[in-house]
Amino acid sequence: MIACGLDFGTSNSAIGIKRDDVVTLVPLEDDKTLIPSAVFFDYETNGQVLFGTDAISAYVGQTEGRLMRALKSILGSPLIDEETSLGSRKVPLTTVVELFVRHLKQKAEAVAGREITSIVHGRPVRFVDGDSQADARAQDVLEAVARRVGFRNVRFVYEPIAAAHHYEQTVSREELVLIADIGGGTSDFSIVRIGPQRRDRTDRTDDVLATAGARVGGTDFDTALSLAAVMPLLGFGTQLVKKNLPMPNALYYELATWSTINFAYTYKNERDLAELALDAREPEKVGRFLKVIRERLGHRLAFAAEEAKIALSGVDRAEVSLAFLEDGLVASTKRAGFERAIAAKTDRLYRTASDCISAAGLSGDTIDTIFLTGGSSRMPAVRSAIARAAPSARLATGSDFLSVALGLTQLAGRTA
Ligand SMILES: Nc1ncnc2c1ncn2[C@@H]1O[C@H](COP(=O)(O)OP(=O)(O)OP(=O)(O)O)[C@@H](O)[C@H]1O
Ligand SMILES: [Mg+2]
Repeated sequence: MIACGLDFGTSNSAIGIKRDDVVTLVPLEDDKTLIPSAVFFDYETNGQVLFGTDAISAYVGQTEGRLMRALKSILGSPLIDEETSLGSRKVPLTTVVELFVRHLKQKAEAVAGREITSIVHGRPVRFVDGDSQADARAQDVLEAVARRVGFRNVRFVYEPIAAAHHYEQTVSREELVLIADIGGGTSDFSIVRIGPQRRDRTDRTDDVLATAGARVGGTDFDTALSLAAVMPLLGFGTQLVKKNLPMPNALYYELATWSTINFAYTYKNERDLAELALDAREPEKVGRFLKVIRERLGHRLAFAAEEAKIALSGVDRAEVSLAFLEDGLVASTKRAGFERAIAAKTDRLYRTASDCISAAGLSGDTIDTIFLTGGSSRMPAVRSAIARAAPSARLATGSDFLSVALGLTQLAGRTA
Protein backbone atom coordinates (compact mmCIF):
# COMPACT_ATOMS: atom_id res chain seq x y z
CA MET A 1 0.00 0.00 0.00
CA ILE A 2 1.38 3.39 -0.98
CA ALA A 3 -0.33 6.73 -0.49
CA CYS A 4 0.68 10.33 -0.15
CA GLY A 5 -0.05 13.39 1.94
CA LEU A 6 -0.12 16.80 0.26
CA ASP A 7 0.15 20.15 2.00
CA PHE A 8 -0.65 22.66 -0.72
CA GLY A 9 0.11 25.90 1.11
CA THR A 10 -0.51 29.53 0.24
CA SER A 11 3.23 30.23 0.48
CA ASN A 12 4.93 26.81 0.64
CA SER A 13 4.05 23.22 -0.20
CA ALA A 14 5.29 19.74 0.67
CA ILE A 15 4.33 16.20 -0.24
CA GLY A 16 5.10 12.97 1.60
CA ILE A 17 4.73 9.29 0.85
CA LYS A 18 3.73 6.50 3.17
CA ARG A 19 4.81 3.01 2.32
CA ASP A 20 4.58 0.06 4.72
CA ASP A 21 3.78 2.55 7.49
CA VAL A 22 6.99 4.51 6.88
CA VAL A 23 6.55 8.25 6.29
CA THR A 24 9.02 10.06 4.00
CA LEU A 25 8.86 13.64 2.79
CA VAL A 26 9.76 13.92 -0.87
CA PRO A 27 12.84 16.01 -1.83
CA LEU A 28 11.48 18.75 -4.09
CA GLU A 29 14.41 21.10 -4.66
CA ASP A 30 17.73 19.24 -4.31
CA ASP A 31 17.35 17.69 -0.87
CA LYS A 32 14.85 20.27 0.39
CA THR A 33 11.36 18.93 1.07
CA LEU A 34 9.64 22.35 1.06
CA ILE A 35 8.97 24.30 -2.11
CA PRO A 36 7.59 27.83 -2.48
CA SER A 37 4.09 27.63 -3.99
CA ALA A 38 5.16 29.56 -7.07
CA VAL A 39 4.80 29.03 -10.81
CA PHE A 40 6.57 31.05 -13.50
CA PHE A 41 5.68 31.10 -17.18
CA ASP A 42 8.76 32.05 -19.15
CA TYR A 43 7.86 34.11 -22.25
CA GLU A 44 11.46 34.05 -23.50
CA THR A 45 11.43 30.28 -24.00
CA ASN A 46 7.91 30.28 -25.36
CA GLY A 47 6.08 29.19 -22.25
CA GLN A 48 8.48 26.97 -20.32
CA VAL A 49 6.99 26.49 -16.84
CA LEU A 50 9.18 26.76 -13.75
CA PHE A 51 8.23 25.90 -10.17
CA GLY A 52 9.25 26.98 -6.66
CA THR A 53 12.61 28.67 -6.14
CA ASP A 54 13.41 28.41 -9.87
CA ALA A 55 10.18 30.30 -10.60
CA ILE A 56 11.06 33.06 -8.15
CA SER A 57 14.67 33.31 -9.37
CA ALA A 58 13.57 33.65 -12.99
CA TYR A 59 11.19 36.47 -12.06
CA VAL A 60 13.70 38.28 -9.85
CA GLY A 61 16.36 37.80 -12.55
CA GLN A 62 14.05 39.75 -14.88
CA THR A 63 13.31 36.94 -17.27
CA GLU A 64 10.33 38.08 -19.33
CA GLY A 65 7.33 36.15 -18.03
CA ARG A 66 4.66 35.87 -15.38
CA LEU A 67 5.00 34.81 -11.75
CA MET A 68 2.02 33.33 -9.92
CA ARG A 69 1.90 33.04 -6.11
CA ALA A 70 -0.72 32.69 -3.35
CA LEU A 71 -3.14 30.91 -5.67
CA LYS A 72 -4.70 29.12 -2.71
CA SER A 73 -6.02 32.50 -1.52
CA ILE A 74 -8.37 32.84 -4.47
CA LEU A 75 -9.68 29.25 -4.56
CA GLY A 76 -12.93 30.27 -2.86
CA SER A 77 -13.40 33.51 -4.80
CA PRO A 78 -14.75 34.21 -8.28
CA LEU A 79 -11.19 35.17 -9.31
CA ILE A 80 -10.35 31.47 -9.59
CA ASP A 81 -12.51 31.37 -12.73
CA GLU A 82 -10.31 34.03 -14.34
CA GLU A 83 -7.56 33.39 -16.81
CA THR A 84 -4.09 34.84 -16.70
CA SER A 85 -2.56 36.31 -19.84
CA LEU A 86 0.65 34.65 -20.87
CA GLY A 87 1.88 36.73 -23.75
CA SER A 88 -0.50 35.94 -26.55
CA ARG A 89 -2.36 33.10 -24.84
CA LYS A 90 -4.56 32.83 -21.78
CA VAL A 91 -4.48 30.08 -19.17
CA PRO A 92 -7.20 29.41 -16.57
CA LEU A 93 -5.90 29.86 -13.03
CA THR A 94 -7.13 26.37 -12.14
CA THR A 95 -4.72 25.06 -14.78
CA VAL A 96 -1.87 26.85 -13.01
CA VAL A 97 -2.81 25.06 -9.76
CA GLU A 98 -3.02 21.81 -11.70
CA LEU A 99 0.47 22.23 -13.18
CA PHE A 100 1.86 22.80 -9.70
CA VAL A 101 0.12 19.80 -8.12
CA ARG A 102 1.12 17.60 -11.06
CA HIS A 103 4.73 18.68 -10.54
CA LEU A 104 4.57 17.58 -6.88
CA LYS A 105 2.88 14.29 -7.79
CA GLN A 106 5.58 13.50 -10.33
CA LYS A 107 8.30 14.20 -7.77
CA ALA A 108 6.57 11.83 -5.32
CA GLU A 109 6.21 9.13 -7.95
CA ALA A 110 9.85 9.43 -8.93
CA VAL A 111 10.79 8.63 -5.31
CA ALA A 112 8.16 5.88 -4.99
CA GLY A 113 9.12 4.35 -8.32
CA ARG A 114 5.48 3.86 -9.21
CA GLU A 115 2.17 5.61 -9.75
CA ILE A 116 0.40 6.94 -6.65
CA THR A 117 -3.39 7.25 -6.81
CA SER A 118 -4.32 7.71 -3.16
CA ILE A 119 -3.95 11.03 -1.38
CA VAL A 120 -4.71 12.72 1.91
CA HIS A 121 -5.03 16.36 0.96
CA GLY A 122 -4.78 19.16 3.50
CA ARG A 123 -7.26 21.99 3.70
CA PRO A 124 -7.70 24.96 6.05
CA VAL A 125 -10.66 24.88 8.41
CA ARG A 126 -12.00 27.92 6.52
CA PHE A 127 -10.78 28.83 3.04
CA VAL A 128 -13.18 31.78 3.14
CA ASP A 129 -14.73 33.57 6.12
CA GLY A 130 -18.48 33.39 6.64
CA ASP A 131 -19.47 31.83 3.30
CA SER A 132 -19.84 28.06 3.51
CA GLN A 133 -20.81 27.74 -0.16
CA ALA A 134 -17.63 29.46 -1.32
CA ASP A 135 -15.73 27.38 1.19
CA ALA A 136 -17.13 24.12 -0.20
CA ARG A 137 -16.34 25.32 -3.72
CA ALA A 138 -12.72 25.91 -2.83
CA GLN A 139 -12.38 22.28 -1.76
CA ASP A 140 -14.23 21.16 -4.90
CA VAL A 141 -11.71 23.02 -7.04
CA LEU A 142 -8.82 21.30 -5.27
CA GLU A 143 -10.52 17.91 -5.52
CA ALA A 144 -11.12 18.36 -9.26
CA VAL A 145 -7.45 19.32 -9.69
CA ALA A 146 -6.34 16.24 -7.71
CA ARG A 147 -8.49 13.98 -9.89
CA ARG A 148 -7.28 15.59 -13.11
CA VAL A 149 -3.66 14.88 -12.20
CA GLY A 150 -4.55 11.24 -11.56
CA PHE A 151 -5.42 10.82 -7.89
CA ARG A 152 -8.43 8.52 -7.68
CA ASN A 153 -8.81 8.18 -3.92
CA VAL A 154 -8.88 11.71 -2.45
CA ARG A 155 -9.55 12.47 1.22
CA PHE A 156 -9.40 15.96 2.75
CA VAL A 157 -8.16 16.53 6.30
CA TYR A 158 -8.04 19.81 8.21
CA GLU A 159 -4.47 21.12 8.34
CA PRO A 160 -4.54 21.69 12.16
CA ILE A 161 -5.68 18.08 12.68
CA ALA A 162 -2.74 16.90 10.60
CA ALA A 163 -0.40 19.09 12.66
CA ALA A 164 -1.87 17.54 15.83
CA HIS A 165 -1.00 14.05 14.57
CA HIS A 166 2.53 15.19 13.94
CA TYR A 167 2.88 16.83 17.34
CA GLU A 168 1.44 13.72 19.02
CA GLN A 169 4.44 11.66 17.88
CA THR A 170 6.64 13.80 20.13
CA VAL A 171 4.72 13.63 23.44
CA SER A 172 5.28 11.17 26.24
CA ARG A 173 2.09 11.77 28.23
CA GLU A 174 -1.52 12.63 27.65
CA GLU A 175 -2.24 16.32 26.91
CA LEU A 176 -5.07 18.60 25.94
CA VAL A 177 -3.59 20.72 23.16
CA LEU A 178 -4.57 23.84 21.27
CA ILE A 179 -2.98 23.50 17.84
CA ALA A 180 -2.41 26.88 16.16
CA ASP A 181 -1.21 26.71 12.55
CA ILE A 182 -0.56 30.27 11.40
CA GLY A 183 0.40 30.09 7.73
CA GLY A 184 0.59 32.35 4.71
CA GLY A 185 -3.13 32.57 3.97
CA THR A 186 -5.07 31.20 6.91
CA SER A 187 -4.87 30.59 10.64
CA ASP A 188 -6.23 27.26 11.76
CA PHE A 189 -6.94 25.94 15.21
CA SER A 190 -7.94 22.63 16.77
CA ILE A 191 -8.37 21.34 20.29
CA VAL A 192 -7.25 17.75 20.48
CA ARG A 193 -6.66 15.19 23.20
CA ILE A 194 -3.41 13.45 22.38
CA GLY A 195 -1.12 10.92 24.02
CA PRO A 196 1.08 7.90 23.44
CA GLN A 197 -1.79 5.53 24.25
CA ARG A 198 -4.12 7.24 21.82
CA ARG A 199 -2.02 7.64 18.70
CA ASP A 200 -2.56 4.20 17.23
CA ARG A 201 -6.33 4.15 17.68
CA THR A 202 -8.02 4.00 14.32
CA ASP A 203 -10.97 6.22 15.19
CA ARG A 204 -9.91 9.54 16.75
CA THR A 205 -13.19 11.37 16.26
CA ASP A 206 -13.80 11.65 20.02
CA ASP A 207 -10.35 13.17 20.59
CA VAL A 208 -11.02 16.17 18.33
CA LEU A 209 -12.96 18.55 20.55
CA ALA A 210 -13.21 21.56 18.23
CA THR A 211 -11.78 23.24 15.15
CA ALA A 212 -11.84 26.89 14.06
CA GLY A 213 -10.25 28.98 11.35
CA ALA A 214 -9.81 32.53 10.10
CA ARG A 215 -8.72 33.78 6.73
CA VAL A 216 -5.81 35.70 8.19
CA GLY A 217 -2.19 34.82 7.49
CA GLY A 218 1.27 36.00 6.58
CA THR A 219 0.25 37.36 3.18
CA ASP A 220 -2.17 39.73 4.98
CA PHE A 221 0.67 40.86 7.23
CA ASP A 222 2.75 41.54 4.10
CA THR A 223 -0.12 43.63 2.69
CA ALA A 224 -0.39 45.60 5.93
CA LEU A 225 3.35 46.27 6.02
CA SER A 226 3.40 47.25 2.37
CA LEU A 227 0.53 49.72 2.82
CA ALA A 228 2.12 51.18 5.95
CA ALA A 229 5.73 51.49 4.77
CA VAL A 230 6.20 50.77 1.05
CA MET A 231 3.13 52.06 -0.83
CA PRO A 232 3.41 55.59 0.65
CA LEU A 233 6.70 55.88 -1.30
CA LEU A 234 4.64 55.17 -4.42
CA GLY A 235 2.10 57.88 -3.65
CA PHE A 236 -0.38 55.99 -1.44
CA GLY A 237 -2.12 58.60 0.74
CA THR A 238 -0.76 61.58 -1.24
CA GLN A 239 -2.99 64.30 -2.67
CA LEU A 240 -4.18 65.25 -6.13
CA VAL A 241 -4.07 69.00 -6.76
CA LYS A 242 -7.00 69.89 -9.02
CA LYS A 243 -9.26 67.08 -7.87
CA ASN A 244 -8.46 67.93 -4.23
CA LEU A 245 -8.69 64.24 -3.30
CA PRO A 246 -6.20 61.60 -2.21
CA MET A 247 -4.84 59.15 -4.79
CA PRO A 248 -7.42 56.35 -5.30
CA ASN A 249 -6.76 53.49 -2.86
CA ALA A 250 -8.00 50.47 -4.77
CA LEU A 251 -4.99 50.06 -7.03
CA TYR A 252 -2.60 50.22 -4.07
CA TYR A 253 -4.52 47.47 -2.29
CA GLU A 254 -4.52 45.32 -5.43
CA LEU A 255 -0.78 45.72 -5.84
CA ALA A 256 -0.06 45.13 -2.13
CA THR A 257 -1.91 41.78 -2.12
CA TRP A 258 0.03 38.76 -3.37
CA SER A 259 -2.91 37.06 -5.03
CA THR A 260 -4.06 40.10 -7.04
CA ILE A 261 -0.76 41.62 -8.19
CA ASN A 262 -1.07 40.33 -11.75
CA PHE A 263 -4.56 41.80 -12.05
CA ALA A 264 -3.07 45.28 -11.61
CA TYR A 265 -1.09 45.00 -14.85
CA THR A 266 -3.53 46.50 -17.34
CA TYR A 267 -3.20 49.20 -19.99
CA LYS A 268 -6.11 51.00 -18.39
CA ASN A 269 -4.20 51.24 -15.10
CA GLU A 270 -1.14 52.51 -16.95
CA ARG A 271 -3.21 55.18 -18.69
CA ASP A 272 -5.05 56.20 -15.50
CA LEU A 273 -1.83 56.45 -13.52
CA ALA A 274 -0.09 58.49 -16.20
CA GLU A 275 -3.01 60.91 -16.02
CA LEU A 276 -3.09 60.98 -12.21
CA ALA A 277 0.65 61.68 -12.15
CA LEU A 278 -0.05 64.96 -14.01
CA ASP A 279 -2.37 66.09 -11.20
CA ALA A 280 -0.32 64.67 -8.30
CA ARG A 281 1.11 66.86 -5.57
CA GLU A 282 4.05 64.41 -5.40
CA PRO A 283 4.36 63.24 -9.01
CA GLU A 284 7.72 61.51 -8.49
CA LYS A 285 6.02 59.04 -6.14
CA VAL A 286 3.19 58.29 -8.55
CA GLY A 287 5.85 57.96 -11.25
CA ARG A 288 7.37 55.08 -9.24
CA PHE A 289 3.97 53.43 -9.12
CA LEU A 290 3.62 53.72 -12.88
CA LYS A 291 7.04 52.15 -13.28
CA VAL A 292 5.97 49.18 -11.10
CA ILE A 293 2.92 48.60 -13.31
CA ARG A 294 4.81 49.04 -16.59
CA GLU A 295 7.76 46.88 -15.60
CA ARG A 296 5.76 44.26 -13.68
CA LEU A 297 7.64 44.88 -10.44
CA GLY A 298 4.70 44.13 -8.12
CA HIS A 299 6.08 40.84 -6.80
CA ARG A 300 9.44 42.50 -6.15
CA LEU A 301 7.64 44.93 -3.82
CA ALA A 302 5.80 42.05 -2.16
CA PHE A 303 9.04 40.15 -1.57
CA ALA A 304 10.57 43.32 -0.11
CA ALA A 305 7.63 43.76 2.27
CA GLU A 306 7.76 40.08 3.27
CA GLU A 307 11.50 40.31 3.92
CA ALA A 308 10.98 43.30 6.22
CA LYS A 309 8.14 41.51 8.03
CA ILE A 310 10.34 38.46 8.64
CA ALA A 311 13.21 40.66 9.85
CA LEU A 312 10.84 42.38 12.32
CA SER A 313 10.25 39.02 14.05
CA GLY A 314 13.82 39.29 15.30
CA VAL A 315 14.70 42.99 15.43
CA ASP A 316 12.92 46.27 16.30
CA ARG A 317 13.53 48.04 13.01
CA ALA A 318 14.37 47.00 9.46
CA GLU A 319 15.26 48.88 6.29
CA VAL A 320 14.14 47.43 2.99
CA SER A 321 16.06 48.29 -0.14
CA LEU A 322 13.86 49.22 -3.10
CA ALA A 323 16.90 49.85 -5.32
CA PHE A 324 15.29 47.76 -8.08
CA LEU A 325 12.78 50.59 -8.35
CA GLU A 326 15.06 53.57 -7.86
CA ASP A 327 18.71 53.96 -6.86
CA GLY A 328 19.05 54.36 -3.09
CA LEU A 329 15.32 54.10 -2.35
CA VAL A 330 14.72 52.53 1.07
CA ALA A 331 11.58 51.82 3.10
CA SER A 332 12.02 52.04 6.87
CA THR A 333 9.93 49.86 9.14
CA LYS A 334 9.62 49.52 12.90
CA ARG A 335 8.15 46.59 14.78
CA ALA A 336 5.98 48.81 16.98
CA GLY A 337 4.35 50.52 13.96
CA PHE A 338 3.92 47.21 12.16
CA GLU A 339 2.24 45.65 15.19
CA ARG A 340 -0.17 48.59 15.38
CA ALA A 341 -0.98 48.15 11.68
CA ILE A 342 -1.89 44.48 12.21
CA ALA A 343 -3.55 44.84 15.64
CA ALA A 344 -7.05 44.08 14.31
CA LYS A 345 -5.73 40.91 12.67
CA THR A 346 -3.79 39.63 15.66
CA ASP A 347 -6.84 40.37 17.81
CA ARG A 348 -8.86 38.25 15.39
CA LEU A 349 -6.41 35.39 16.02
CA TYR A 350 -6.91 35.74 19.77
CA ARG A 351 -10.69 35.67 19.32
CA THR A 352 -10.63 32.68 16.95
CA ALA A 353 -8.41 30.73 19.37
CA SER A 354 -10.72 31.66 22.28
CA ASP A 355 -13.82 30.68 20.29
CA CYS A 356 -12.21 27.34 19.51
CA ILE A 357 -11.64 26.71 23.22
CA SER A 358 -15.26 27.71 24.02
CA ALA A 359 -16.59 25.53 21.20
CA ALA A 360 -14.83 22.59 22.88
CA GLY A 361 -16.78 23.40 26.06
CA LEU A 362 -13.55 24.35 27.83
CA SER A 363 -11.92 27.37 29.40
CA GLY A 364 -8.38 28.57 28.65
CA ASP A 365 -6.96 27.29 31.95
CA THR A 366 -7.72 23.66 31.03
CA ILE A 367 -5.40 23.69 28.00
CA ASP A 368 -2.07 22.00 28.82
CA THR A 369 -0.13 23.04 25.72
CA ILE A 370 -0.38 25.38 22.76
CA PHE A 371 1.44 23.85 19.79
CA LEU A 372 2.42 26.71 17.49
CA THR A 373 3.24 25.90 13.89
CA GLY A 374 3.25 27.61 10.47
CA GLY A 375 5.68 30.34 9.39
CA SER A 376 3.65 33.23 10.80
CA SER A 377 3.69 31.69 14.29
CA ARG A 378 7.24 33.07 14.45
CA MET A 379 5.88 36.61 14.81
CA PRO A 380 6.06 37.82 18.42
CA ALA A 381 2.68 39.62 18.14
CA VAL A 382 1.02 36.46 16.82
CA ARG A 383 2.48 34.28 19.57
CA SER A 384 1.37 36.60 22.34
CA ALA A 385 -2.13 37.01 20.85
CA ILE A 386 -2.64 33.25 20.81
CA ALA A 387 -1.01 32.73 24.20
CA ARG A 388 -3.59 35.16 25.67
CA ALA A 389 -6.33 32.62 24.85
CA ALA A 390 -4.79 30.09 27.28
CA PRO A 391 -2.30 32.03 29.44
CA SER A 392 -1.32 29.12 31.70
CA ALA A 393 -0.58 26.72 28.81
CA ARG A 394 2.95 25.69 27.91
CA LEU A 395 4.07 26.87 24.44
CA ALA A 396 5.52 24.17 22.19
CA THR A 397 6.92 24.43 18.68
CA GLY A 398 8.44 22.14 16.07
CA SER A 399 8.70 21.76 12.28
CA ASP A 400 7.02 25.10 11.53
CA PHE A 401 6.91 24.44 7.80
CA LEU A 402 6.55 20.66 7.66
CA SER A 403 4.33 19.56 10.56
CA VAL A 404 1.18 19.61 8.42
CA ALA A 405 2.73 17.61 5.56
CA LEU A 406 4.16 15.08 8.02
CA GLY A 407 0.79 14.71 9.76
CA LEU A 408 -1.11 14.35 6.48
CA THR A 409 1.31 11.67 5.34
CA GLN A 410 0.96 9.81 8.64
CA LEU A 411 -2.78 9.79 8.02
CA ALA A 412 -2.38 8.59 4.42
CA GLY A 413 -3.58 5.07 3.91
CA ARG A 414 -5.85 5.24 6.97
CA THR A 415 -9.56 5.40 6.41
CA ALA A 416 -10.39 7.89 9.18
N1 LIG B 1 10.45 34.42 10.84
C1 LIG B 1 9.26 34.75 10.33
N2 LIG B 1 8.54 35.78 10.84
C2 LIG B 1 7.34 36.12 10.32
N3 LIG B 1 6.76 35.48 9.30
C3 LIG B 1 7.42 34.45 8.76
C4 LIG B 1 8.68 34.02 9.23
N4 LIG B 1 9.09 32.96 8.47
C5 LIG B 1 8.12 32.75 7.57
N5 LIG B 1 7.10 33.63 7.73
C6 LIG B 1 5.86 33.74 6.95
O1 LIG B 1 5.17 32.52 7.06
C7 LIG B 1 4.31 32.38 5.93
C8 LIG B 1 4.47 31.00 5.34
O2 LIG B 1 4.19 30.05 6.33
P1 LIG B 1 3.71 28.59 5.93
O3 LIG B 1 4.68 27.96 5.01
O4 LIG B 1 3.40 27.90 7.22
O5 LIG B 1 2.36 28.94 5.15
P2 LIG B 1 1.54 28.02 4.15
O6 LIG B 1 1.44 26.65 4.74
O7 LIG B 1 2.10 28.12 2.79
O8 LIG B 1 0.12 28.77 4.17
P3 LIG B 1 -1.35 28.25 4.55
O9 LIG B 1 -1.20 27.11 5.49
O10 LIG B 1 -2.01 29.44 5.19
O11 LIG B 1 -1.96 27.89 3.25
C9 LIG B 1 4.71 33.47 4.94
O12 LIG B 1 3.77 34.52 4.98
C10 LIG B 1 6.07 33.92 5.47
O13 LIG B 1 6.35 35.27 5.16
MG1 LIG C 1 0.13 25.72 5.98
